Amino acid sequence: MKGVDEVHLLNITVAPAHRGQGWGRVMLDALALWSRGQGAQWLWLEVRTTNRRAQEVYLRYGYRRVGERKNYYPARDGREDAIVMSYKL
Ligand SMILES: CC(C)(COP(=O)(O)OP(=O)(O)OC[C@H]1O[C@@H](n2cnc3c(N)ncnc32)[C@H](O)[C@@H]1OP(=O)(O)O)[C@@H](O)C(=O)NCCC(=O)NCCS
Repeated sequence: MKGVDEVHLLNITVAPAHRGQGWGRVMLDALALWSRGQGAQWLWLEVRTTNRRAQEVYLRYGYRRVGERKNYYPARDGREDAIVMSYKL
């Protein structure tokens, strides 16, 4: 989702059988390329606090943790916090 000088990543998923083979990085590369072409300076995303794997993928890519949103996601037993991450293009 494009904003003024930023792009917000809303969802990214690789089919379970194909995870850990570099496809996530390929899509993050494609997103960064497209976003630069749109004139964006920053990428932003939220990730569930329990989703350690996705956090690792984003950190390895170069995203930095910049904040939290309390009770952001619906969860089985209530709500779950989000970690906000950003990447300078
Ligand atoms: C998050 C997701 C999209 C990543 O896709 P992927 O194809 O598995 O990721 P890649 O294989 O490209 O891995 C990217 C990097 O993270 C690393 N990585 C992957 N899985 C990891 C894990 N479990 N622990 C630590 N590092 C991991 C890889 O080594 C790679 O690093 P490198 O490029 O420096 O070698 C995928 O796991 C997924 O679909 N998860 C379920 C949906 C989801 O959680 N989406 C995100 C919601 S915010």
